[in-house]
Amino acid sequence: MEALGISPSSLSISFFLLLLLLSSPYPSSCHPSPPTPADFLARAMSPDLVDYVVNIRRKIHQYPELGYQEFATSELIRSELDRLGIRYKHPVAITGVVGYIGSGNAPFVAIRADMDALPIEESVDWEYKSKVPGKMHACGHDGHVAMLLGAAKLLQEQSKELQGTVVLLFQPAEEGGAGAKSMIEEGAMENVEAIFGLHLSTKHPLGTVASRAGPALAANGFFEAVISGKGGHAALPQHSVDPIVAASNVIVSLQHLVSREADPLESQVVTVSKFEGGGAFNVIPDSVTIGGTFRAFSKESFVQLTKRIEEVITRQAGVHRCNATVTFDSEHFYPVTTNHKGLHAHFLKVAEGMLGMDNLLEMKPLMGAEDFSFYSEIIPGFFYHIGMQEKGGEQLPSAHNPYYKMNEDALPFGTAFHAALVTRYILEKQPERHDETLRQPISDKDLPKAHDEL
Ligand SMILES: *[C@@H]1O[C@H](CO)[C@@H](O)[C@H](O)[C@H]1NC(C)=O
Ligand SMILES: [Zn+2]
Ligand SMILES: [Zn+2]
Repeated sequence: MEALGISPSSLSISFFLLLLLLSSPYPSSCHPSPPTPADFLARAMSPDLVDYVVNIRRKIHQYPELGYQEFATSELIRSELDRLGIRYKHPVAITGVVGYIGSGNAPFVAIRADMDALPIEESVDWEYKSKVPGKMHACGHDGHVAMLLGAAKLLQEQSKELQGTVVLLFQPAEEGGAGAKSMIEEGAMENVEAIFGLHLSTKHPLGTVASRAGPALAANGFFEAVISGKGGHAALPQHSVDPIVAASNVIVSLQHLVSREADPLESQVVTVSKFEGGGAFNVIPDSVTIGGTFRAFSKESFVQLTKRIEEVITRQAGVHRCNATVTFDSEHFYPVTTNHKGLHAHFLKVAEGMLGMDNLLEMKPLMGAEDFSFYSEIIPGFFYHIGMQEKGGEQLPSAHNPYYKMNEDALPFGTAFHAALVTRYILEKQPERHDETLRQPISDKDLPKAHDEL
């Protein structure tokens, strides 16, 4: 009504607004104040975002899909990205989806979730139990997808402020299928200069995060060997070449690789977990098949183990007049997951701001493997754990277990960390920013001095 005239009341409103502006702690109106890590956690814990993430997790949990078959999960992800107005590439590595939030320019920084379930029959009776016989999200990847979508929603709300691009990686087949490797081969990492990944953990308390700089998870390989002799009557061994005795000696000799050849200060594992041979009390079989896994924390040790496993099997079989052929599924070898020191320092700053120093835990290296290692092998990467164990609550069953239970209260922490880590990363890459605290570059030398006790 009074579009042209300035009434006393509109004057006083203008004055009030001016006062508000002047009292703002961020007087530079061209740069809205960047959210702090605590702001991200507060947003991730707001009821609408919690519902959003929990609902997605429960939907996915009911329809688990194995590696490279995550078609419905992938479709759900894409429909959510459509709804949020986030552009994406699909298909990448069959079911993978790569989303983009922000300016479309450098720096490009990625956050990743794995989508696959396990061939396990769920034994937990609850409302959102798996509806697919023999398949279950028993490693929490349903939660990983939900948290990444939650972070996407949160980041999209602030996408105008992002002076860079967040790359969302939804990858297939983490559980042995090297989905990350396929994603890389199909160009998912184009332009990406750093990557963060997380895993929900039943071992760490709720409200804590755990990680470490340097090697964090082992390199992983599988082997299989067929040891052939000559079958015959079990009562007349002199007419046979017994592969069962040969294989038994092979297995004992393999134990010496770690106990006698490896540096005792460097962790390695050789486990024979498969032994198939024979089927009758009175027949010596023609052949025996053995197989297993081996782990190490450096590429050199891993290569050495590969070489020696083959030698020990073929030569020890030869001692017993058997022949052996050894095969390695080298397509699916997982490298060591090594956390970049500069990104570790970045993580500590964000985590300290969000949870406080007391809730930052130093993780011991794990003999388990993660295909996140394929990413961190080619660019700086950082992998960490989000605690789920309620203090004083019953011990959560570990992952890959039919009784696996997720504590959904942990999901907002993952959502917040995803969003905070990349937003702060992009902010710190803006040299023209006025805020001094945002100008510290990330580098290898940027080791935390105040965090030595971690
Ligand atoms: C092992 O391989 C050699 C060479 O092929 C063959 O002559 C021999 O019969 C094989 N031995 C057994 C027990 O299969
Ligand atoms: Zn797993
Ligand atoms: Zn997992």
